[in-house]
Amino acid sequence: MEWNREQRYRRWEDALEAEQMQLVTMVNQCSWRQSFHIQPVTGLLNDPNGFAYYNGEYHLFYQWFPLGPVHGLKNWYHTKSKDLIHWENVGVAIEPTTEFDSHGVYSGSGVEHDGQLYFMYTGNSRNESWIRTPYQCLAFMNEKGQIQKHEKPVIANVPEGYTDHYRDPKVWKHGSEFFAVIGAQRSNETGTIILYRSSDLTQWNLEGELEIGFKDFGYMWECPDYFEVDGHGILLFCPQGINSEGDCYQNIYQSGYVLGDKLNIQERTLVHTGFQELDRGFDFYAPQTMEAPDGRRILIGWMGLPEIEYPTDKNGWAHCLTLPRELTVRNGKLRQLPVQELERLRGNKAEAHLLIENETRQVEKFAGEVYELSVEFSNFTAEQFGVELRAGDKNKTILKYDTLAKKVIIDRSESGELAGIQYGTVRQCPMASETIHFRIFVDVSSVEVFVNDGEEVFTARIFPDENSQAIRFFAQNGKSEVKAVKYELNSDC
Ligand code: FRU
Repeated sequence: MEWNREQRYRRWEDALEAEQMQLVTMVNQCSWRQSFHIQPVTGLLNDPNGFAYYNGEYHLFYQWFPLGPVHGLKNWYHTKSKDLIHWENVGVAIEPTTEFDSHGVYSGSGVEHDGQLYFMYTGNSRNESWIRTPYQCLAFMNEKGQIQKHEKPVIANVPEGYTDHYRDPKVWKHGSEFFAVIGAQRSNETGTIILYRSSDLTQWNLEGELEIGFKDFGYMWECPDYFEVDGHGILLFCPQGINSEGDCYQNIYQSGYVLGDKLNIQERTLVHTGFQELDRGFDFYAPQTMEAPDGRRILIGWMGLPEIEYPTDKNGWAHCLTLPRELTVRNGKLRQLPVQELERLRGNKAEAHLLIENETRQVEKFAGEVYELSVEFSNFTAEQFGVELRAGDKNKTILKYDTLAKKVIIDRSESGELAGIQYGTVRQCPMASETIHFRIFVDVSSVEVFVNDGEEVFTARIFPDENSQAIRFFAQNGKSEVKAVKYELNSDC
């Protein structure tokens, strides 16, 4: 019997569902499932996509391969929320069903137009010889949440001078026009960003490369995003192929921004002060931002990186998204803070005010695997001081300040099972300050640290044994005053 295309597709869907059901049991047995982060039911999650506020709710999609912890055939998976912290799994939103996205519905973004939420994404298509052709495609969602694809790609060609690494459109509206930035690779294998302009989201005019002064900064730039905050223009992008330099660029791929004057659309220029990393930790990539109805600029990133094995792989799933962060500008830098809504998750509170001196101290009621911890160190003479998280007989994740080097350091060498060990187990960055404040969010297998009011952020997945639940404060070669507040976090609130 001959199957037509539709029947073949349905058959594949049934097979997929059966396979996935088997994975669910394995995934649910994993002791590293998160409690208040967005994570896939099975399989692999990567980039956040289509992040937008539409029809009274936040909509957030992510790159998803359901059948295992590998970068297989990608779909967009849909989650939504009324408050940015409780997310409802809606289901698969955009599947690879056409010749233009047959080998993956790759990353893209969302923008409202004419009462619908439009998505522009890269269709990854390959021929029999596995030659890739990227198509920039369009889909739209109505108020009932029904999604439909536009019949053909809206940008079908890669312009001359660029390779088939041409993807991840981020669209925004400016006045009555739409603009899109696309991550690209020049034919000489250097990364860049291309600007497009449209009046209706279907006809796109190629404006040209953004002129931001990097002629040779990595071989490909993924996931660009342009937005304005407090009168500044900010361009995020993820350069691949940057060598590490001192404390910078330690991960396999980087994720950062340039900040300066607003983008000059006619000249395609953005005058800025240099590339800065968004996150100084281990697991952060491909962030995307959106504007909340109250004007806040919110960022969510992928808490993971490509081409690295993670300990949850053996349980059939990998990765989660970061907490939503609010972005503001302070002293020429992005300041990132967890969105205020997260305070609604707070449950029981414990407080401590201590003086610690040449010791490591465990304090009653300071323990757990899911909590928010705020610690301020002041009046210090110690050479190093800090806090151990998810600590036990064998495991601990150390977050500390070195007063001689004037650096904040996160050390996960003894955190438990490790991911990406070939990229090192310590991350650090300079910070000169009389007081050091850590606002820390610990979920079952992650730590997100906002240092000194969001001046720097460190994100790390950790995979400790279940019994490692202590929080310990320490000071070496001297003393420090410590003020700590801990909240249990309850995602059922
Ligand atoms: C970034 C990325 C994007 C691409 C997507 C595919 O992690 O490689 O460039 O669109 O992932 O899943």
